[in-house]
Amino acid sequence: MEEKRLPAGSTEIGAQAKGGGAGTEIVLRIEDLHVHFVKNKILEKRTVVKAVDGVSLELAKGEILSLVGESGSGKTTLGRAVIGLVRPSSGRIVIVVDGAERDIGGARGKEWKRLRAHLQIVFQDPFSSIDPNMRVYDALRIPLQSYGVKGQSAVAKKISDVMRRVGLPEQVVNNYIFQLSGGQRQRIGIARVLLFDPSVIIADEPVSMLDASLKGDILNIIERESKENGVTFLFITHDMAVAKVVARRIAVMYLGKIVELGLAEDLLFDPLHPYTKAMLQASPAIDPSMKERIKNINIIGELAKSTDHPSGCKFNPRCPFAMDVCREKEPPLKEVKAGHQVACWLY
Ligand SMILES: Nc1ncnc2c1ncn2[C@@H]1O[C@H](COP(=O)(O)OP(=O)(O)OP(=O)(O)O)[C@@H](O)[C@H]1O
Ligand SMILES: [Mg+2]
Repeated sequence: MEEKRLPAGSTEIGAQAKGGGAGTEIVLRIEDLHVHFVKNKILEKRTVVKAVDGVSLELAKGEILSLVGESGSGKTTLGRAVIGLVRPSSGRIVIVVDGAERDIGGARGKEWKRLRAHLQIVFQDPFSSIDPNMRVYDALRIPLQSYGVKGQSAVAKKISDVMRRVGLPEQVVNNYIFQLSGGQRQRIGIARVLLFDPSVIIADEPVSMLDASLKGDILNIIERESKENGVTFLFITHDMAVAKVVARRIAVMYLGKIVELGLAEDLLFDPLHPYTKAMLQASPAIDPSMKERIKNINIIGELAKSTDHPSGCKFNPRCPFAMDVCREKEPPLKEVKAGHQVACWLY
């Protein structure tokens, strides 16, 4: 199997962004999604956490889109809302199945089960909720059978197929979960979702607990699935360097909003939003020569709590370039160059 390993300790940046198998056929559309959590419902002082605050995104078949942002920016909540694990406060999630648009929010019963199979999620630690004393085979068999795949040979065939897709020898199915290495666990985590032949996989920080060399293996699997099987990925990471390795496009999220969206090479070589620039500056794996070209910008302070939403641009209290308009009006996400959108009054 072809293996591409990242240099130890770093993720190479600067090479051309991957195209993936992306076409123009839209498979997932997120329309003005809001997810607000209400805390302290009983107490008088109730606070609203605007975890996702008006996100719209379209993902093409076979595309890998990286969603990047600091901790608490709302990445996981967005991913969970897309697959229906969190109920949106407003907005729609539309998935295209066999050419027909389906609204996830409106689906019930069998229709819901069918759509849900098309949308899968892989977490940072895929087995945190699974009995470590279970055999790998059972960890794959049980979800498959509960989905309705009957017959031992059909189940065995599917399991053998997904083991091949994640590059693991078939005998690993006889191991117990606790015997797996970190890299193997994540491969099995991906195998578990490939069982359903999903069209979209939300990969939520799938490599952040792995060593650099193992990261490369997992990113390879993701890239191959996108190219060869047309699987679309929303790849969630807080690391710009990792975002760049696999993605065709990168979306930068700040306090529930997309502040910049564009082709990975455009975002890395010509970042526009001060927050994107600061994130690139802060990323240890970004090539120093590239950092030199980004005007040295220092953002102020910590990420605001998502309960504190400043008026105007949410980034204004931390932004060294903030003007009066930034404190008064929220900037819309608008295209300033072909395929490159930014929400910032500087443009
Ligand atoms: N179930 C919930 N109830 C209340 N608040 C929540 C809930 N889930 C998430 N939040 C809040 O929503 C905000 C966004 O959280 P989220 O986990 O989506 O961020 P994230 O970008 O994935 O962060 P990280 O990089 O740490 O994983 C945070 O302020 C978090 O505390
Ligand atoms: Mg998260």
